[in-house]
Amino acid sequence: MSLPEQVRIVEVGPRDGLQNEKQRVDTDTKVELIARLGKAGLKAIEATSFVSPKWVPQMADNAEVMARIVRLPGVAYPVLTPNLKGFEAALAAGAEEVAVFAAASESFSQKNINCSIAESLQRFEPLMAAAGAAGVRVRGYVSCVLGCPYEGAIEPAAVADVAATLAQMGCYEISLGDTIGTGTPGKTRRMIEAVAARVPVERLAGHYHDTYGMAIANIAASLEAGVAVFDASISGLGGCPYAKGASGNVATEEVVYLMRGMGIDTGIDLAELIACSLWISERLGRAPGSRVTRALSSR
Ligand code: HMG
Ligand code: MG
Repeated sequence: MSLPEQVRIVEVGPRDGLQNEKQRVDTDTKVELIARLGKAGLKAIEATSFVSPKWVPQMADNAEVMARIVRLPGVAYPVLTPNLKGFEAALAAGAEEVAVFAAASESFSQKNINCSIAESLQRFEPLMAAAGAAGVRVRGYVSCVLGCPYEGAIEPAAVADVAATLAQMGCYEISLGDTIGTGTPGKTRRMIEAVAARVPVERLAGHYHDTYGMAIANIAASLEAGVAVFDASISGLGGCPYAKGASGNVATEEVVYLMRGMGIDTGIDLAELIACSLWISERLGRAPGSRVTRALSSR
């Protein structure tokens, strides 16, 4: 399969990145982070999540974030919603796109959203209907597609089943999450092929966490399998509160650098992105999590 000329990057740092941050991150910082990401050219920035604040306190200022972000033309600001309650709150806060999330592993589904995979999919039905009525686009996530912190290996067929159900329910795109980052390129490719047999590859996205340093290799394998959308997090921020030891998503800077090297357009300004990475790292009081940013900013 020939490589795509363009790749779309979905920035998930403000949500997937910050949701796991132990220190309190103030709303000003979140709003400015989203503005800086927009300035760097990102066209999809996952802004926050409308989940229970008891479960994920860091996202408790979701409505305020949505009220304060300055929306750039042509940029989508999706938010994560686990159920109808979250969807209604997101809609009231002005969200125009949401994302639902299910898992390919039963144990992870229980730990993350306190219900079985089948129950989670059922919960999405009223949400999908309400989203359809409101003209809100819905993206779907599948977690633990290459391994589960509780169950170990996950069968590609299990991933394909959940992805196909989300696609049938009306999700315009399915993001395949290696939540704990245990995937390697061969496994990634087999998983993508199994899912692509049920959902057109044009509707798939790769969401790779970099816990074992494999995310870039998994992105390269996914590109070869026809995937042209990747989720990434500025400075590699993040982890998952329900996956102990999981590190952040692949750093956005790393993905842009890779694509640039392969002659694939992302529409993103790497210098602006690096400036944004340095800024958020300083705000959080740590060194940038991206090797590309460290290398290019130390020259
Ligand atoms: P539950 O306790 O089973 O739900 O939680 P419940 O319906 O029994 O409700 C319990 C309480 O939560 C009630 O309040 C509800 O009103 C409230 P109380 O009566 O106790 O005061 N509630 C809500 N509040 C705000 N927003 C809502 C909402 N829903 C119920 N939407 C629930 C179920 C799903 C809510 C909970 O388990 C939850 O919020 N989990 C958070 C999960 C999460 O955010 N995980 C991280 C994101 S997923 C991820 O990172 C993976 C991904 O990046 C892909 C990858 O890497 O693989 C996407
Ligand atoms: Mg994630």
